Amino acid sequence: MVDPARSHLLELVRDYHDAQTPEAAPFIPGQTPILSSGAVLDADDREALVAAALDMRIASGQITAKFESSLARTLKRRKAVLTNSGSSANLLALSTLTSPELGDQRLKPGDEVITVAAGFPTTVNPILQNGLVPVFVDIELGTYNTTAELVEQAISPRTRAIMIAHTLGNPFPVAEIAEIAARHGCHLVEDNCDAVGSTYQGRLTGTFGAFSTISFYPAHHLTMGEGGMLLSSDIKLAKLAKSFRDWGRDCWCEPGEDDRCLKRFDLQAGTLPEGYDHKYVFSEVGYNLKSTDIQAALGLSQLAKLPGFIEARKRNWRQLREGLDGLPGLLLPEATPGSDPSWFGFIITVLPDAGFDVPQIVGHLERHNIRTRRLFAGNLTRHPAYIGRPQRIVGSLANSDTVTERTFWIGVYPGITTEMIEYVIGTLKEFVATH
Ligand SMILES: Cc1ncc(COP(=O)(O)O)c(C=O)c1O
Repeated sequence: MVDPARSHLLELVRDYHDAQTPEAAPFIPGQTPILSSGAVLDADDREALVAAALDMRIASGQITAKFESSLARTLKRRKAVLTNSGSSANLLALSTLTSPELGDQRLKPGDEVITVAAGFPTTVNPILQNGLVPVFVDIELGTYNTTAELVEQAISPRTRAIMIAHTLGNPFPVAEIAEIAARHGCHLVEDNCDAVGSTYQGRLTGTFGAFSTISFYPAHHLTMGEGGMLLSSDIKLAKLAKSFRDWGRDCWCEPGEDDRCLKRFDLQAGTLPEGYDHKYVFSEVGYNLKSTDIQAALGLSQLAKLPGFIEARKRNWRQLREGLDGLPGLLLPEATPGSDPSWFGFIITVLPDAGFDVPQIVGHLERHNIRTRRLFAGNLTRHPAYIGRPQRIVGSLANSDTVTERTFWIGVYPGITTEMIEYVIGTLKEFVATH
């Protein structure tokens, strides 16, 4: 039954939203900040958050389950497991692959995991956190992804997994790398945090690996404030992942549910007494990486807008790419051949003979209120956290170094308008012409 008080309150929330959201303020070039990324939230999102709060949906429950199944359907995976961040989803992916349940397939301390040196730290950290050894390969400039050749060269008898992110939405050659993984009996984990909606050879990224991950931090394609998702079409892996997420428990009842298996007091596990409550039987050394229904309500409401968000990102990227084409001194981004990226940002490398450097061009953009970002950590192996840690570096990391020294990116997120992009193009052209 619909509660009239609830309906009335939600109507008021929509009125409040409209009152808080003035007519789109006119864009003032140089004054209105052009952000690199940000959440795009509307009245539906505000209503979804308040509705979940009114219903006191404070823990993980029905809304989480609905968000998981809806997202899995949208992204063409059989199962989705909601987490409290994209980093947690990455940790969950690799930790699950250490489960004794996987027998010979399990990752063991000292096993090698091939990854990329230039990127975000939490694509790599779960490797170290699980006592595994990261094997770093370089990337290409232009696509900012590694290649199948570099990954193949990095394979050793100890290689058991490959874990790589699709850089700023641009797919790595995932079909070829999945083939290498299969040929060498390795697990493939796709960090799809920046690439929701991208395709490679007509197939969605995140559907090639045993696991893929998503982030819902506000910078990403969809947001729930903080949050992440682990996706898989392998039912056994997904079930294990859920156990690792939920303290390592053996029981698969939903939160608040009791005795779905009808054997709650009839099982014997480990050396526990016969009939020990299945709710408190632990079969994995797990974590608690769960999120909440309030946040899931926002994720679900955002999901309805995903096609429009992806289209806006592609449109903004195209406008920048066409508008900046041929500008001297700058290496412009290229989509990986065979891909259709759902872009996270527009990445630029300053060429060595440009006559200007990154601090100068970035300073110019920032002074004009155009926000810039680096390709996250750049070459991770140069950071204090990774120096002296177990690792293997294959070949040169020259391009990862170039990215550390001469690369930055600007925004394409759906909050950026055509008018803003025109201004960004004009500002960059003016800078290059005067340097
Ligand atoms: C490629 C990649 N992986 C993982 C993450 C981590 O996501 P979160 O901030 O939700 O932990 C990010 C964050 O931006 C990212 O860019």
